[in-house]
Amino acid sequence: MKLKAVLALSVLPVLFTSQANAFTVGVLMPTQDEARWYREGFGIENELKNSGFNVELFFGGDIDVSLQQRQIKRLSNDSNIDALVIGSIDGNALADALTIAKSKKLPVISYDRLITGTDAVTYYATFDNGKVGEIQGKFLIDKLHPTVDDPKNIEIFYGSLDDNNAKFFYGEAMKILQPYIDSGALVIKSGEIKPEETNIPSWRTDLSSKRMDAIMDKVGYGPESGERLDGILSPADCISSGIIFTLKKRGYTVENIPVITGQDSTPDALKNIQEGYQAMTIFKDGKQLQDTVLDMVKAISKGQEANINDTTTYNNGVMDMKSFLCTPELIDRSNINKLL
Ligand code: BGC
Repeated sequence: MKLKAVLALSVLPVLFTSQANAFTVGVLMPTQDEARWYREGFGIENELKNSGFNVELFFGGDIDVSLQQRQIKRLSNDSNIDALVIGSIDGNALADALTIAKSKKLPVISYDRLITGTDAVTYYATFDNGKVGEIQGKFLIDKLHPTVDDPKNIEIFYGSLDDNNAKFFYGEAMKILQPYIDSGALVIKSGEIKPEETNIPSWRTDLSSKRMDAIMDKVGYGPESGERLDGILSPADCISSGIIFTLKKRGYTVENIPVITGQDSTPDALKNIQEGYQAMTIFKDGKQLQDTVLDMVKAISKGQEANINDTTTYNNGVMDMKSFLCTPELIDRSNINKLL
């Protein structure tokens, strides 16, 4: 086939699917470098397009807050954009960038992570993030059976300080773990417990690996002659991967690796669970969240109120959020097959 004919054929479907007058949604995701956001960015794009909406999808580069602020301003100024869906990098740093959207009354859906300090947000579509932390905390207790007579050594990792979700994961997990820490049934030998001591900036895998190395050196944990390490509360798979990288490098095997939690069911985590390096993760059904966003966009495009199931859990510092919370699910070796 001649090049011209091929080009014409490849352009045609685009012309027919992108509808000139359709409601257009600007979708911003925090980064393309983490499995979850890459998958969900394209997932929302497909879902919205299949329902006849136009979509402009952007990723925040290498977790670049100022790039995301510029993207928000550009899309808000674009007269073709009818609504924004924003998965923030730093939820506390977008209030300024959203002033244009606010003055134009452009509907904004805060996606997964809460945008704080502004009333420019119309809806919040997320998971029950407290429940994630609760599942992780309970899992550690179930696996370790810590008692005062048989105490267990654990370490704690917090997510990124600029992410409101991290507070919920940690807060609910600690509600489960704290009584055991207070009684001495759980021991944190590094002495690092508070968010300021345990956080991993921007959820970066390399930084979680580095912190694990530092803790090993500080406490003297080791697979054979070193101090015993029984469990690690890790809020997310991207952090667990860094921890596991360090532990393997330090000689841990599936025989003696501590019980490590996670979240997101990333390909890396599923492999680590199958092989026995990671004990659990959380499945956050992207489809459920995308359907929620789609319902919200449909309602907004018709000038109707969207279906929500929560108005009391999240307050962004300015208002109680009209939220829809999706359900997180525990995944371990016993049920991992459903995701493979
Ligand atoms: C999300 C988690 C994710 C983490 C790191 C959080 O805001 O809720 O699912 O693991 O960010 O990207």
